[in-house]
Amino acid sequence: LIGIVSCYNMSRPTVFIANPSVPKIAFDILQDVANVVSVSGYDRESILKEVSGADAIFWASGLKLDKEILDAAGPQLRVVATMSVGYNHIDLAELKSRGIPFSNTPRVLDNAVADMALYLALGASRRCFEGRQQIEKGTWKKYFDTQWLLGRDISGSTVGIIGLGNIGQAIARRLKGFDVARILYTGHREKAEGKELGAEFVNLDTLNRESDFVFLAAPLTNETRNICNEEFFSKMKKTGIIVNIGRGELIDQAALIKALKTGEIFAAGLDVMTPEPLNTDSELLTLPNVVLTPHIGSATVDTRNAMAELTAKNILRGLAGEEMFTPIQL
Ligand code: DGY
Repeated sequence: LIGIVSCYNMSRPTVFIANPSVPKIAFDILQDVANVVSVSGYDRESILKEVSGADAIFWASGLKLDKEILDAAGPQLRVVATMSVGYNHIDLAELKSRGIPFSNTPRVLDNAVADMALYLALGASRRCFEGRQQIEKGTWKKYFDTQWLLGRDISGSTVGIIGLGNIGQAIARRLKGFDVARILYTGHREKAEGKELGAEFVNLDTLNRESDFVFLAAPLTNETRNICNEEFFSKMKKTGIIVNIGRGELIDQAALIKALKTGEIFAAGLDVMTPEPLNTDSELLTLPNVVLTPHIGSATVDTRNAMAELTAKNILRGLAGEEMFTPIQL
């Protein structure tokens, strides 16, 4: 009982960290002004059991943050912050109806995620996974076969970016260093940043038909879900390469697998897929023309620390009744 009383000290707000692996920097920042309680496990049940009494929730999970969890926290809850740039897993309407401010972590992960996007694009276009398979199988040719494992050049190519937000722009900046011929982008509107990057605003159909590389860097919404579907792949160039660093559900995965198997497109590089974790019997794992990484776009030491720091600082702002550094308008 003494433990519980000291943990939920009345004079200090309680911040509930809903993930046991959050970087220490978040605790260092929050502990100055709050009682910080970390969940004991990664599962929803642990969160539901332990969130009660929180004034703020530090979310760092792909699990849904919904009415049930907000109810379990209790009526004193007044701040929610997610340690992620994406927030498709958060029930914004529910937060809005309760008047709870909410923030995410834009910008601090742009470079790490854009680096991963380029890795996937190059890995897929240069057939890196297939090459490794050949080494493992002992089928690396002893003679110089000039036609073996030929890939596609990124230099001189037309690149299409679906979603020229902060990450899309970081991808475009990198692409300029690879001497691409054109950068196309699509989204809700033409952007000044697009002009500065020398990128052309086009509609989805034009981007679809003209791109040699397609990068998916859009948030997952009802509008973008399955934006790359059977029809999209049928319009892509046969030499085309698709890269997804956004969310798996931006792609109709069954349609992608079909397009990769039938040669409708050349290759794919995916950091995100459906479901996550991917089933180990997924057909995606059997295809030589796919490079896969397990949703690690932002997984560098510095980036994860920066995300944790920003989330913690947003929570302090919210608890003080001030505007968060990176609020989401509800
Ligand atoms: C993000 O920040 O949204 C990354 O995808 C990690 O979930």
